[in-house]
Amino acid sequence: MDPITFQTGEFTSRLVFTDSPATLLEGFDLTVFDTNTIKLFSPSASHYVWQAGETHKIWKSVEELLAVCLEKGLGRDAVLGAVGGGVVTDMAAFAASLYMRGIGLVLVPTTLLAMVDAATGGKTGVDFGGFKNLVGTFYPAREIRIWPGAVASLPEREYRSGLAEVIKHGMLGEQSLFRLLQNQRDAVLARDGQVTSAFIRQAVQYKVGVVVRDLRESGERAFLNLGHTFAHALEAERGYDGSWSHGEAVAWGLDRALALGVSLGITEPIWYQEVHDLLNSYQYRLKAPGASPKAILAAMKNDKKKKAGTVRFVLQRRLGETLMTQVDDESVLKILEDGV
Ligand SMILES: NC(=O)c1ccc[n+]([C@@H]2O[C@H](COP(=O)([O-])OP(=O)(O)OC[C@H]3O[C@@H](n4cnc5c(N)ncnc54)[C@H](O)[C@@H]3O)[C@@H](O)[C@H]2O)c1
Repeated sequence: MDPITFQTGEFTSRLVFTDSPATLLEGFDLTVFDTNTIKLFSPSASHYVWQAGETHKIWKSVEELLAVCLEKGLGRDAVLGAVGGGVVTDMAAFAASLYMRGIGLVLVPTTLLAMVDAATGGKTGVDFGGFKNLVGTFYPAREIRIWPGAVASLPEREYRSGLAEVIKHGMLGEQSLFRLLQNQRDAVLARDGQVTSAFIRQAVQYKVGVVVRDLRESGERAFLNLGHTFAHALEAERGYDGSWSHGEAVAWGLDRALALGVSLGITEPIWYQEVHDLLNSYQYRLKAPGASPKAILAAMKNDKKKKAGTVRFVLQRRLGETLMTQVDDESVLKILEDGV
């Protein structure tokens, strides 16, 4: 497939899909990995390795990379390559946006989540002061190289976590992605090469389309938060103890968002049932026993993205028809009580 060139604000990016890892790392002056993704490749060229994991998504890691850029004498025309999941791509992009006020950046996402979400869209950053992604910049990569075969080595939980975001893209976008996820479930879960390649392409292209239309989240891009108000609040209520991966919480949140829509007379019940059945068929947990509905509601109100103290929800009428609205606490609480 030919590369896709797209524009986000003043930035031009190229999206390249490849079936072979052979040329993935070509053309970089410095390549950054984490302690897991370095094992997938045998880089001979100049590289730097971060400790893997969200706990290392902090300013200190970015500062370390900036120091390496300086030590290696990288100039304004240098190209930084980033190979990894969303933690590596977000932090490397942040560093690339800062070093000499911006150097070349190529992202090679290796988790499903980074392919379909983190690596496209231009958001960079680190966690700060106890908040996820509080500090960062907008800096779209000049190129994003996607090798769907990288998902073969992902731990099952990471794969399923990314899959929840793919399901969300399928709900928001064209019919074909959602139908593929419904009709080819076994092949999707078995990570069949052709099927993963097909759904990853569709999900990435959907995300790129949204970002091109709305880089700074003033409109349509906010729809990508479908299910996330619920998901973030559940993760916060659980104290980020790892009992729910982000994607698992998103799957629960998608189910709760559509249930909320039904209770308000917005979502067609038949659409909710289809989504509920799909999430069940992928064996996502749709109840969160032990969680406190009141504490989840309080966490929603604490979310840094809320505007002027109100919580706005992304809801859907049916497949591909999405809207945003404020909802009263009582209605939300009722839906939370049904979801624990
Ligand atoms: N910038 C954005 O728009 C955006 C969007 C969504 C998420 N994010 C960010 O992405 C991060 C989560 O990304 P993630 O889920 O990819 O987490 P991650 O980067 O921590 O990767 C998950 C784990 O998989 C390992 N890994 C990566 N590729 C592998 C492979 N091919 N085989 C085996 N193991 C592999 C990693 O080392 C890590 O241990 C969060 O910090 C989140 O804030 C950013």
